[in-house]
Amino acid sequence: MALSTILEGFGLKRASGFFIQEARFLGVDIGSSSIKVVQLKKEKERALLETYGELSLARYGDGSVGRSLRLLEVKLVEALQDIIREAQVKATKAIVSIPLKDSFLTTMDLPELGEEDMKEAVPYEARKYVPVPISEVVLDWHVLPPKSEEQKSASIGSARKKFRTVFLAAVPKELISKYKKNFESAGLEISAFEIEVFSFARAALRRDSETSLIMDLGASSVKLTIADGGAVRASHSLDRGSQDLTLALSQSLGVDWDRAEILKRENGIIKKPETEGVALVLEPLVEFWASEGERFLLDWKRKGGRSISKVLIGGGGALLPGIKDLLVKRFGVEVFVINPFSKVVYPAFLEPALREVGATFTNAVGLALHEF
Ligand SMILES: Nc1ncnc2c1ncn2[C@@H]1O[C@H](COP(=O)(O)OP(=O)(O)OP(=O)(O)O)[C@@H](O)[C@H]1O
Ligand SMILES: [Mg+2]
Repeated sequence: MALSTILEGFGLKRASGFFIQEARFLGVDIGSSSIKVVQLKKEKERALLETYGELSLARYGDGSVGRSLRLLEVKLVEALQDIIREAQVKATKAIVSIPLKDSFLTTMDLPELGEEDMKEAVPYEARKYVPVPISEVVLDWHVLPPKSEEQKSASIGSARKKFRTVFLAAVPKELISKYKKNFESAGLEISAFEIEVFSFARAALRRDSETSLIMDLGASSVKLTIADGGAVRASHSLDRGSQDLTLALSQSLGVDWDRAEILKRENGIIKKPETEGVALVLEPLVEFWASEGERFLLDWKRKGGRSISKVLIGGGGALLPGIKDLLVKRFGVEVFVINPFSKVVYPAFLEPALREVGATFTNAVGLALHEF
């Protein structure tokens, strides 16, 4: 897949071809409500699942499962050490995701230049786009592959000069050093960073170039991404996530957080006479995600983008009963719940478990697949 990645190896040692590299790859997704890890082994170009695990951050914070929280650094190190032990992680290096909300992403059109000239031009141009001093951020970028055929033909003759679209990412240096320090304290070296929407897309997309809307329904936020021609084209974060469903239920029904979380997971937005109250509270919030998705798509189309042919949903919120049907009605295209484990090889007895929780591990699998 032509999915270029961003922030790989920034300030990190690049693997050298002269040494035998570790054949294990550990993806670590520090979500706002839980940490997910996936360890893969490379064997004859196949990705074998060695271990995976999720650790709720509730016990390192205020004790509410499914709720986001900002961890103290010392607690994060403790949580990392715990999940490494509990999931019996053997890898010594990790590929780690950076939250979209801590990143700055944009695209810019530059005249077609040689590789060396591009290296000079991009940081210079980036100053016009990045809202903080360039000295405080780590910059990375890649030239996007051409958009889908339809668009290429539509734009023939419209541009006198050849332009290339550059996808630019900036992440605060401070954040990168904090991650490195905390992982080191937990006994792991970071071999690559990746902004979460890129790793998520790697695990979500098949080998096709269709235009898709990818929705990562996390606890604190929903990340919307458009992929086209096998590459991420645009991303946007909504600051209302799956935890807001639990909060709404808890407030409307007057039940505590844990009870509301159970009601949400068991009933979702499926309307049955005995649980209609739950669906009525949750539905407007899911409708909100759909409306924001529609707005995002409108913006994409206004800029010349193709209509989407499918929606891919992942993250814990994708497991909400009934969500798929609602999104099919709203978007009018097929909606798939992502099962990232379909990209890896695993023992048959794990099938039911992986099928059930798969969507939650989309980002972690995508990270672990980074080197494949
Ligand atoms: N079966 C389920 N039905 C409905 N919601 C669920 C289910 N399982 C998990 N969730 C919800 O999914 C959310 C956690 O999803 P996920 O692990 O993707 O979030 P995160 O990565 O920690 O957060 P973020 O991406 O916002 O940083 C929680 O709010 C949880 O309540
Ligand atoms: Mg997440």
